[in-house]
Amino acid sequence: MKVSVLGLGYVGLPLACAIAKLTDHEVVGYDESQNKVAQINNKLCPIDDVQCADDLKVVDFKCSSNSEIIENSDIYIVCVPTPVLNDYTPDLSPVKSATETIAKYLKTGQSVIIESTINPGVCDEIVVPILEKMTDMRAGTDFDVAHCPERINPGDPVWNVYNIPRNIGSTSPEATRRLAEFYREFVSNEINEMPNLKTAEATKIIENTFRDINIAFVNELAKSFDVLGIDLISVIKGASNKPFAFMPHFPSCGVGGHCIPVDPYYLIERAKQSGFDHKFLKLAREINNSMPEYTIEKLIDALNIIEKPIKNTSIGLLGLSYKANVGDIRESPSIKLRNILLEKQANLFIFDPYFPEMSNVKSLDEILDKCDAILIATDHNEFNGLSAELLFDKGVKVVVDGKNMLDKFEITSKGILYRGIGH
Ligand SMILES: NC(=O)c1ccc[n+]([C@@H]2O[C@H](COP(=O)([O-])OP(=O)(O)OC[C@H]3O[C@@H](n4cnc5c(N)ncnc54)[C@H](O)[C@@H]3O)[C@@H](O)[C@H]2O)c1
Repeated sequence: MKVSVLGLGYVGLPLACAIAKLTDHEVVGYDESQNKVAQINNKLCPIDDVQCADDLKVVDFKCSSNSEIIENSDIYIVCVPTPVLNDYTPDLSPVKSATETIAKYLKTGQSVIIESTINPGVCDEIVVPILEKMTDMRAGTDFDVAHCPERINPGDPVWNVYNIPRNIGSTSPEATRRLAEFYREFVSNEINEMPNLKTAEATKIIENTFRDINIAFVNELAKSFDVLGIDLISVIKGASNKPFAFMPHFPSCGVGGHCIPVDPYYLIERAKQSGFDHKFLKLAREINNSMPEYTIEKLIDALNIIEKPIKNTSIGLLGLSYKANVGDIRESPSIKLRNILLEKQANLFIFDPYFPEMSNVKSLDEILDKCDAILIATDHNEFNGLSAELLFDKGVKVVVDGKNMLDKFEITSKGILYRGIGH
C-alpha cells in the first residue's frame, strides 16, 4: 500500500517513521511547513524525540510541502494540530484544511484516518461531510474514515509509537477490522476495535480530561492546605500506600503541553452546542489556569518577608519547557510565569538548557550568582543538583519550587525561605 501522513510533528513524524521501518508499505509525508520538510528530507529530526531521530536516519521516507505527494495513497493519516483560539474555543481549521487536501485526491476504496485529538462528532460532522461534498462519494461505502487517537508521550523512555495500545473506530465494521490490522503491523500492543467513530473520539478526550480534573483537584488541595498548614506532598505519599482506588497526582505551578490544557475545551464546547454545560471540566480548567498567578503570589509573599519588592529584584526562572527533559514550550506555564514577572518589572533571568536561545544566562551557576530568588518552573534533571549548600553559597534567599522537586527541609535549615506548591 501507499500510506501518506499529513502533519509531521510530534505525532506524525514518529508514526511515519514507524510505518516505514516495520512494514513494506511506501510511506510519504505532507506538511505545510517548507522548513520542516527540508529538515526531514535532509534526515534532520525537527522534534525532540531520540527514537524518531534514529528512525529517520534509516527509513526510506520522503515528504513534501506540495500535496501532490499524497496522490494515490491507500491510507491518508491526519496528524495536524488541534489548538484552541484565544477565547479557548477549538480551532479545527488545520483538520478542515488537511481534510480538504485529501479530498482533492481521494478515490474509491481508500481510507482516511484522523489521529489528531478531536471531540466526539468531528469525524461525522466535519470530516465526512467535507469529503462527501468534495468527492461526491459516500463514506462507509465508497471510502472510509477512521479515528485512531494518538497517545504519544514525548520523552517517555518506555512508551512510544511502537508499543502504546491504540483504539480505533470507523465508518464501517469492515474498515475498522482492516485498519486495525494495518496498525498491528507496526504496533506490538493491543489495537482495540471500537463500535464507531464517536466512541473512539470520546475515549481520547476522557483520558486527557481525567488528567486535567485530577490535577485540578490536587492544585485546589495545595491552595487549601497552604492555608491550613498541611504538607500536601506528605499527605499524597500517605494516601498512596492504599493498595486500591487511589492514584497519586501532584500539584505544581501549572499544566502545560499541547494536550491536557487544550483537549477539555473541545468537549466543553461541543457539549455546549448540544445544550450541556460541563461545569466540572470548566472549573478544573479554571483552577489549573490559575496556578501560575498563585505561584507568583507565593514568591511575592516570600519576598515581603525579606523586605524586597518584586520590582527590580533579581529573580531566576528555571525552566521554560512544559515538562521535564523535553524542549517543548507549548502552553507552558513557564511562559505565563515569565510574562507575569516581566509585567511586575522583576529583574528577570531565565535559564533552560533546552532553550539556550530563550535563556539570558548560560548556566545554572550564572543564574544562581545573579539572583536573590529563584523560581523552579520545570523539573529538568539538570536542576536536581540544586543542593541547599549550593543555594546558600550563591546567596539565594528565596526558593519558590513550582515542581516540589527540592529538599524543603535542607533548604530551610540553611535559613533560605522555601515555598512549594502545597509543600
Ligand atoms: N504532542 C503530543 O504529545 C500529542 C500526543 C497525543 C496526541 N496529540 C495530538 O496530535 C495532533 C498533532 O499534534 P503534534 O504535537 O504532532 O503537533 P505539531 O505541531 O508538532 O505538528 C503538527 C504539524 O502539522 C503541520 N500542519 C498544520 N496544518 C497542516 C495542514 N493543514 N496540512 C499539513 N500539515 C499541517 C504543522 O506544520 C506541523 O508540522 C494534535 O491533535 C494533538 O492534540 C499530540
